[in-house]
Amino acid sequence: MIIKSLKLKNFRNHSYLYYEFKPGLNIFTGNNGVGKTNIVEAIYYLSLARSFRTQEDKDLIKEGKDIAEIDSVVLEGDINRRIRVLFSEQGRKVLLNNKPVSKLSDLVKSVNVTLFEPKDVLLFRGSPKARRNFLDINISKKTPAYLEYISKYERVLKQRNDILKSDNVDQALLDTSTEMLVELSRPIVQMRSAYVKDINDILIKITRALTDVEEAVEIHYEPYVPLDSNFANSAKEAFKRALEGDLKRKATSIGVHREDFSVTLKGKDIGEFGSQGENRIVALALKLSPYFLIQDKDKRPVVVLDDVMSELDRTHRLRLIKLLSKFEQVFITATKLEVKDAALYTLKSK
Ligand SMILES: Nc1ncnc2c1ncn2[C@@H]1O[C@H](COP(=O)(O)OP(=O)(O)OP(=O)(O)O)[C@@H](O)[C@H]1O
Ligand SMILES: [Mg+2]
Repeated sequence: MIIKSLKLKNFRNHSYLYYEFKPGLNIFTGNNGVGKTNIVEAIYYLSLARSFRTQEDKDLIKEGKDIAEIDSVVLEGDINRRIRVLFSEQGRKVLLNNKPVSKLSDLVKSVNVTLFEPKDVLLFRGSPKARRNFLDINISKKTPAYLEYISKYERVLKQRNDILKSDNVDQALLDTSTEMLVELSRPIVQMRSAYVKDINDILIKITRALTDVEEAVEIHYEPYVPLDSNFANSAKEAFKRALEGDLKRKATSIGVHREDFSVTLKGKDIGEFGSQGENRIVALALKLSPYFLIQDKDKRPVVVLDDVMSELDRTHRLRLIKLLSKFEQVFITATKLEVKDAALYTLKSK
């Protein structure tokens, strides 16, 4: 899909701004603080009705103003959709073709944006939560049923933790919730395993396209118990073994909510052994991989890369630019960058 146009009113530091975009590479340049990231923040907002920089929508309204607006036309195949987000002190309203959007999933189906931001370089070094989020978001986009399993699992997990926290733990209730967790975890583990396997093939190709050396890169995912015909029994046993600790800590210590994956480069964990640059390149390759797993080409995401170029050396920069031509539409921010055939938008300080 592509973003055809974007209008911003009183969004962050921009009083008014209107762009029409082409497929291919679109580059925003300008000095530090001119508002480049603010523009891609608006583009990202369209896909999840959420910023990647703040939890507070009111931060998005230009200082001293009461209302702000994002107004955009998104093209999927030959379907045009107009998406407007109106921000005010009362909250925010999302309109899809001039009708209020009540379910977030309707918006998520209409706009798909993949973002790489500077802090993603920490993907392999930070907490497992960011890595689980990567899996959960991308598997959900590919297979909506996954999102339902995860949501149910989260609900049951909360119930189980509440039971563990109560003064007199009800053993029967605890057993029921444990059984439900075991049951729900099987399809989650199955889908995670299958997805990681699919990602692996693409990750290898993208990393090769980005680096000059034929590095062996591999993603590893180990479910909390082995995925075989004995899964349910092993899972029940694992929960039994963890029970004493769970009762003490009043929280569930095993299950899919505690799982993680790792990525190795030349056989070594990249978070621990990789250089900053290797972490950046492989994290970028991983974040771009899901694009190629979406079968329906019209539904493939718009790719946004905030500030990645400046940290890459010339060789890697050129390789990345070459790779980016494989994507339908890409937005890049950089203080300075010139690429042949790319659309360039230069922002000036006011
Ligand atoms: N609600 C707001 N109202 C007015 N200005 C804002 C608001 N929120 C952020 N800003 C301003 O926007 C500017 C930052 O914009 P942004 O982060 O997009 O810059 P940038 O061009 O990406 O810079 P860099 O090259 O350093 O990444 C800051 O000067 C900040 O003060
Ligand atoms: Mg920026």
